Amino acid sequence: MCGIVGYIGENVEKILLEGLSILEYRGYDSAGIAVLRNGKIELNKRVGKVEVLKQSVKDKKKFGIGIAHTRWATHGKVCIENAHPQFSRGGDIAIVHNGIIENYDILKANLIKDGVRFSGDTDSEVIAKLFEDKLNLKSLKVVLQKLEGSYALVLLSKYQNKLYFAKNKSPLYVAVENGRAMVASDPSCFVNFSKKYFDISDGEYGFIDKNSINVYNKGIKVEKTSKSINFKFSSQKMDGYSHYMIKEIYQCKDALNNIIQNYNLKNIQSILEHIKNCNINRIYIIGCGTAYHAGLIGKNYLKNQTNFEVNCELASEFIYQNNLIDDKSLCIFISQSGETADTISALKYCQKHNSITLSITNVEYSTLAKQSRFVLPIFAEQERAVASTKAYFAQVLVLYILSKVLAKKEYITTLKKFQKDLSFNSDDIIIKLSKIISLKDQLFFIGRGIDYITCQEGALKLKEVSYINCQAMPSGELKHGTLALIDNKSLVITIITDKKLLKKSINNACEIKSRGGKLILFTCFKISLDFKNVFDYIVKIKPTLDEFMCLQSIIPLQKLAYFTALQKGNNPDMPRNLAKSVTVE
Ligand code: G6P
Repeated sequence: MCGIVGYIGENVEKILLEGLSILEYRGYDSAGIAVLRNGKIELNKRVGKVEVLKQSVKDKKKFGIGIAHTRWATHGKVCIENAHPQFSRGGDIAIVHNGIIENYDILKANLIKDGVRFSGDTDSEVIAKLFEDKLNLKSLKVVLQKLEGSYALVLLSKYQNKLYFAKNKSPLYVAVENGRAMVASDPSCFVNFSKKYFDISDGEYGFIDKNSINVYNKGIKVEKTSKSINFKFSSQKMDGYSHYMIKEIYQCKDALNNIIQNYNLKNIQSILEHIKNCNINRIYIIGCGTAYHAGLIGKNYLKNQTNFEVNCELASEFIYQNNLIDDKSLCIFISQSGETADTISALKYCQKHNSITLSITNVEYSTLAKQSRFVLPIFAEQERAVASTKAYFAQVLVLYILSKVLAKKEYITTLKKFQKDLSFNSDDIIIKLSKIISLKDQLFFIGRGIDYITCQEGALKLKEVSYINCQAMPSGELKHGTLALIDNKSLVITIITDKKLLKKSINNACEIKSRGGKLILFTCFKISLDFKNVFDYIVKIKPTLDEFMCLQSIIPLQKLAYFTALQKGNNPDMPRNLAKSVTVE
């Protein structure tokens, strides 16, 4: 994964470091910066977050040309040697890389045979060492021809006032304005700098100087058309919250309001109308992590509302199975970032089968959005915490709308009803529970039907930020194995929001109680006195329409994950080993 940025202009260090902070969602294992000044490349690399690098960089004002990188380790452990920028054989070219070079081992073996020495173990260093010290379009093209895999590259030479770049499969954008130029993994780096940007496509490479952008493909110059930066980025301010995660949980309300407002507008309704008029025979919903869980809820909605065959698949598994897909299959890709590599691969696979592609995403300029036939935005505004909260909420709402549209039914009235009912629970009971949970090494989540999906998402959230082993399962499956793990040290969270499943779910809770396990119940129902003693703690969820109980119940679970992370002294916004945008398969 990783985030890369290059800049030519005044305040070079300051702007590169600001860029890295914006890109930190792409990884935060180590960070580095290289700036060309007075014919020398000044290098600074640090293990840890961008903040650590920031503290160590002094000169932040002068003109310069520089590149910077924030890393999420794929090949090679987290250490200074493996941090970027990496250097060419003679040290005259510095490069930053995002992606994975799949044939790096063969390239490296050949270089070693030729006597080239390596200081670390990354695939990125192999790209750098493929360069002798001449950097121009020709030498860049020669090196690119040797690479297999994904890359966004920015290169800085000791002898030129230019930055070279190249792209294949990893995102890369460029902006040039008023004697300043910038290249980055995400156009959000350009917001304070330019009103337009250029989107670099796969196979393109070239260079920028302070006044121009020069793009080539297979040796031929490409004329690029600029795009406007008209997207909104949510404020970087905390607005009184301690972390983005808790701020974003409360922003579920804004997401709901935005969706009600925007899905009433003609442009979105016309997209929905087009989708409805497609000749569809079956539906696939595809995503990773939290987006996959949103897809599972969407599958439920679509099955309840329509007669289509509906499948929900993990993007990382999907392309390796035999799928029945043709031009009547509606393939829906759920992704907050729109950059998840597995989801993009699944999209390409579905395109090859001529299916109807639809992306549900939060980033309108993302690769998924650009490549899909239809795009439905989720209007959640930028999400910064690695653990997705408001985006999940908004993805589920958009899938709800889609199911209603395909069933030719109205959806605004029910959404407005939910708008009135949406509740965030008081923090007191959640904080009390987070203290108990933080002492555990493992935790079980059980539920039936849609509550089982909420359990999966609740367990994922908690494990992401608390590092506690959380296992979600359908309540009825307990006795087929997992019950063997239950003893008087076990803690089990159970969710019950479906009246039809109330009795059976309580029976499953009793099975745990009889074996000494402790139970926390999240429910919208009044539990009769006979069963009250089964549960050690009961968290009341405010009732709403059945179709939205999954959203009403995920909020206290998101908060539980947040407060447990705090109890354990973890940073909930940047959990260890994870990244927000997973751009490698
Ligand atoms: C990462 C993030 C998760 C996210 C998943 C899918 O694992 O940490 O929060 O759910 O990727 O990301 P996407 O951008 O495709 O929704």
